[in-house]
Amino acid sequence: MSEFIPVLTKEEIAAQVRRIAQDISVDYKDRELVLIGILKGAFIFLSDLIRQISIPVKVDFMCASSYGGSTASSGRVKLSKDVDIEIKNKDVLLVEDIVDTGRTLSYLMDYLKTSGAASVRICALIDKRERREANVTVDYACHTVEKGFLVGYGLDYAEFYRNLPEVYHLKL
Ligand code: IMP
Ligand code: MG
Repeated sequence: MSEFIPVLTKEEIAAQVRRIAQDISVDYKDRELVLIGILKGAFIFLSDLIRQISIPVKVDFMCASSYGGSTASSGRVKLSKDVDIEIKNKDVLLVEDIVDTGRTLSYLMDYLKTSGAASVRICALIDKRERREANVTVDYACHTVEKGFLVGYGLDYAEFYRNLPEVYHLKL
């Protein structure tokens, strides 16, 4: 039977989201910030995060995936939804649920820089270190883990468990 080991409670998530939202609000004061949520996993995190940010921001979404319903990366990135708003000369902050190998974000960062963004940085709920392959730095992270497959608060396993209000380590 699958086991769910608690990683972050609702209260811990809320405190960490407040903390990074304050940092972002200070760092991007007087800049033109565009938050880009990576669908689907970031939708809950992004919706909580923007409500704690105190400076004007624009929001958009991209849909990218490197996973095909399992817990192992396929290694390829598929972009199925591009940004709609203008990002040329804007400061972009990519909002992701979890950074694992880093391939998805490395691909998206290159893509957005090529599209003319003034800067591109990364904000993630979870920075998962062990399998990092691409040279990406998570600029704002709520929580860091070495390894394990996590679910809840937007993170899925084969599309399930996104609705859990807490984050768990799923042991299959
Ligand atoms: P990367 O390109 O290997 O960094 O993959 C990042 C994407 O893989 C994330 O946006 C998630 O959709 C998925 N992923 C990686 N690790 C986990 C996990 O522990 N739980 C759920 N999804 C994960
Ligand atoms: Mg994702």
